[in-house]
Amino acid sequence: MGIFSLMSAARATAYSDSEDSAENTELNFLAAPLMIYSVLKLVHVFSITVWIGGMIYALFFLRPSLGVLEPPQRVKLMHETLGRFFKAVLIFSTLAVLSGLWMIGRVAKETVQAGGNFTWPTAWWVMAGLGMLMYFIFMHIRFALYKRLQRAVVASDWAAGGKALEQIRVWVTVNIVIGILIMAVAYLLR
Ligand code: HEM
Repeated sequence: MGIFSLMSAARATAYSDSEDSAENTELNFLAAPLMIYSVLKLVHVFSITVWIGGMIYALFFLRPSLGVLEPPQRVKLMHETLGRFFKAVLIFSTLAVLSGLWMIGRVAKETVQAGGNFTWPTAWWVMAGLGMLMYFIFMHIRFALYKRLQRAVVASDWAAGGKALEQIRVWVTVNIVIGILIMAVAYLLR
């Protein structure tokens, strides 16, 4: 169901007995809350674009081009690039989760305030569940696997660095697949 109609229906009920003029009601009704919701959704989708877009770039464009470098340079370049990318993902993945939960909280509050019963649409359950899974997988990549890569670079152990990069590749692939699945759910299952 379109969320704007859900929120509008909830608000229409809430404001139907209001003493405000019709004009004021109309203004309150459409402007601020829907604007906040739209901003949350923009933050959500932008964060996901950076996260998934960056993973796709690293895996399908940067990684296959590393053959032009010697193994130590490959490991060092990936260590630098991933270090920068993971810093951004730490922020944007957290924003994606928070904005997603915040949108759900807003709709739940609006619906309950209007005297309705809030139930999570199936697409939201799936998105929230798989979204949290992606988030935890990213934490594993950043705080376990990337740490291994850092240690290997400090020790100039390029074999260990290559092994850590391979493990990162596997889990980044898993997250890309889950991310695409979530996008399909967001756009097809509603
Ligand atoms: C805890 C994690 C997440 C929660 C709670 C969550 C929740 C939500 C909610 C409530 C919406 C608004 C839906 C609407 O207005 O109809 C939304 C939109 C969206 N979410 Fe998430 N989300 C999460 C993670 C993700 C992830 C990881 C992805 C992608 C990989 C994603 C992709 C999208 C997309 C593409 C939309 C826009 C759908 C549209 O344009 O209608 N979400 N999300």
